[in-house]
Amino acid sequence: MRVSTKMTLGLSATCLVIAGLHGIMQLRQESQDLRKAVEKEIRLLGTSVKVAVENALRDRQFEDIQQTLDSLEVIDPTVDFLIFDRQKNLKAQSPGSALAGFPEQAGFETIATGRPVLRFDEGAGRGRVVLGLPLANQDGSPAGGLVLIRSLDELRRDLIDTRRGIVLSVILLVLATTALQFFLGIVYVTRPLTVMAKAMRKLRSGDLTAGLASSRHDEVGALAGEFDSLVADLRSARERIAREVESRNSLERGLQQVDKLVTIGQLSAGLAHEIGSPLQIMNGRARALLTRPHSPEDVRKNAEILADQTDRIARIVEQLLRFSRRRAVNLSETDLRRPVEAVLDLVDFSARRLGVSLELRCEERMPPAVLDVDQIQQVILNLLKNALEATPPGGKIAISIQRSVLEPREKGTRVPAARLVVEDSGCGMSPDVLDKLFEPFFTTRAAQGGTGLGLAVVKAIVLQHGGSVSAASTPERGSRFTVDLPLRRPEWEEKEQGEVA
Ligand SMILES: Nc1ncnc2c1ncn2[C@@H]1O[C@H](COP(=O)(O)OP(=O)(O)OP(=O)(O)O)[C@@H](O)[C@H]1O
Ligand SMILES: [Mg+2]
Repeated sequence: MRVSTKMTLGLSATCLVIAGLHGIMQLRQESQDLRKAVEKEIRLLGTSVKVAVENALRDRQFEDIQQTLDSLEVIDPTVDFLIFDRQKNLKAQSPGSALAGFPEQAGFETIATGRPVLRFDEGAGRGRVVLGLPLANQDGSPAGGLVLIRSLDELRRDLIDTRRGIVLSVILLVLATTALQFFLGIVYVTRPLTVMAKAMRKLRSGDLTAGLASSRHDEVGALAGEFDSLVADLRSARERIAREVESRNSLERGLQQVDKLVTIGQLSAGLAHEIGSPLQIMNGRARALLTRPHSPEDVRKNAEILADQTDRIARIVEQLLRFSRRRAVNLSETDLRRPVEAVLDLVDFSARRLGVSLELRCEERMPPAVLDVDQIQQVILNLLKNALEATPPGGKIAISIQRSVLEPREKGTRVPAARLVVEDSGCGMSPDVLDKLFEPFFTTRAAQGGTGLGLAVVKAIVLQHGGSVSAASTPERGSRFTVDLPLRRPEWEEKEQGEVA
């Protein structure tokens, strides 16, 4: 129910009660006034007739009394008279008046007490007022009683008219109040509230231009003013947040730059060591070949060592190039299954040779992820190579693709993602190794020609895709690498596209 309707009903009910009570009181007052008027009238009439009757009684002119009563009957037939002597015998009466018990009693009472008696006799279908007046002789001794009986029908009719008038005015008052209140409710409550609700809905849908600009000087105007200043505050808060987000983004970009520099620093330190040691070996072998005479077998051995070390340097350089080149990514919406199957085809032969089984599980109806196929192939290849190197014959590598959600790095919205999990039943890793896993040049397989760049490359590529990579492992049980790639374009990519457009 609308507020204005509730207020209208409340006010109408109050008005009805007040006007009703007032009407009842007015009716009661009216009734009393009418009674008083009737009483006064009958007393006046009674007193005049009493004098006339007493004079006639004194002169023993009983016919005169009857004549007077007959003339009075003609003038006002609504009043009847009864005249009793001292012994309570009826001496005269108005024509047509009936001797009913009640007026007779009043006559007897006034004869007995010598005082006037006034009685109202109102019952079902009957209404009359009876006045008994004592009659006295010239010497003041009691001579009898005069009884006046007046019908109250006229008074009743007046009262019914008054009641009708009061009920009508109460109804009119309530109707007028209801209509006025309803109109005022609509104008001052419903309409401004509806406008306000509309503005709030606009505000909720993000439209911060929603204002009320009310010119009213009442509470509703004050509320509208508060609403407008709330909208203005929200607008400036939104602008401030946008500025803060922009400055945070530029800070993040700066940090990424610093991160790159740190990585390059780590790379150069590691590079000096990684390339330095094979170079030293090569240098030693080459000098040995130069200074000492050698058997062909010795020369072959040294040449083999030189070839191995140059191969190692070549591998480091190749990986390093991949790591540092960071060519512009070429993102497209692709089913993650495609690069995974391509890499599985590539490593299938080596896996069979090593006696390791490969298993691929893929969730039904996977939406495409936004990725650079070449680079993601590199990620999958590096992970699978590591898994193959860690898994003994008879072991198993399970690859799965499923839906997931990328948790924002700081505050931000969660992004739907495609998840690639590479899980092996290999040797696993100690917590120490797990800690340094993604650092460039960190390797436990240097002896087998590992460069320690494989996972650094994985991390660089995944981050460039706006994704995340993590590892979990239990020594002697196996390891699990989880890569999440967003299904939507990363923010920087969207911006770049916008700029190109
Ligand atoms: N699936 C795995 N199981 C156990 N250890 C692993 C696994 N993957 C990586 N590691 C550990 O992480 C180290 C770093 O791996 P990363 O791929 O970066 O370098 P690498 O494999 O040693 O060298 P490269 O990849 O150049 O051949 C590895 O030396 C190994 O100790
Ligand atoms: Mg590796």
